[in-house]
Amino acid sequence: MTYQYIIYEKIQGLGKVKLNRPKKLNALNPEVYSELEDVFIDCEKDPKVKVLLIMGGEKAFAAGADIDAMAEGDVVLAYQLTDQSQRVQERLADMPKPTIAAISGYALGGGLELAFCCDFRIASDNAVVGVPEINLGIIPGGGGTQRIPRLIGLGRAAELIFLGEPIKADQAEKWGLVNKVVSLNELEPECEKLAQKLMTKSPVALRAAKDSMRTGINMSLKEGLKVEQQTFCMLFGTSDQKEGMRAFLEKRRPSFIGK
Ligand code: CAA
Repeated sequence: MTYQYIIYEKIQGLGKVKLNRPKKLNALNPEVYSELEDVFIDCEKDPKVKVLLIMGGEKAFAAGADIDAMAEGDVVLAYQLTDQSQRVQERLADMPKPTIAAISGYALGGGLELAFCCDFRIASDNAVVGVPEINLGIIPGGGGTQRIPRLIGLGRAAELIFLGEPIKADQAEKWGLVNKVVSLNELEPECEKLAQKLMTKSPVALRAAKDSMRTGINMSLKEGLKVEQQTFCMLFGTSDQKEGMRAFLEKRRPSFIGK
């Protein structure tokens, strides 16, 4: 599939999306979101894609939503843009398979917020992440005020959102905004290694774990534990549960089929 602003390829179970609008530091305009939506739908449907990786270029993962596309907009335009970005982001967040964001260079505003919709964020040591929207007289509109406090707590979220000052990779790792920091050269191989590991797991158990976590985080502990119990018990109806446990008892590696 060919797109104007992204490159999408599927290689041995890995769906790889590269944001490719380098002259504008991969700023996310409606066309980019629309192309991403198309890819996410394909990735969701294609059983050959086991893990999705989203990456940018060396200088920028994405420097945010496209300011040109909204600067002179009114309330109606702001609704239209956020209707679209929220729809695309939620599609990514709900992806029934693991997702990884490979962050190099700037991941700002809507760019970082896109990465927050992934299960894993691996950053290179040149990464600079933040939500500078306050400096534009707005607030993060791509989930930042909701996802950041859930990820790192209200205090640090306030620091990022109120001050709008980006932070470097090592601090982002300390704060739990990214899972790991590696050198720029290692970024893609590291993400591919992680994807390979994930591909050895049961796809149905991975999906169940993701659903349970995502549903439960917005519930009381008691309600969440009920969701977990039901999901756990459901997995006993799968071949992968039998295979996983038999393989353990037979002292061999399991071979999961995703059913
Ligand atoms: N929107 C539109 N264009 C952007 C952009 C953005 N978010 N970020 C960068 N660009 C463009 C620049 O305008 C410039 O284009 P021209 O060459 O045509 O002038 C080009 O990309 C290169 O950028 P710079 O010359 O600015 O590069 P730099 O190295 O000097 O600075 C930067 C890099 C610090 C990331 C700077 O570009 C910057 O501050 N960008 C904006 C970051 C930002 O505010 N992001 C939040 C956007 S709002 C948002 O995301 C809302 C939301 O929550 C959904």
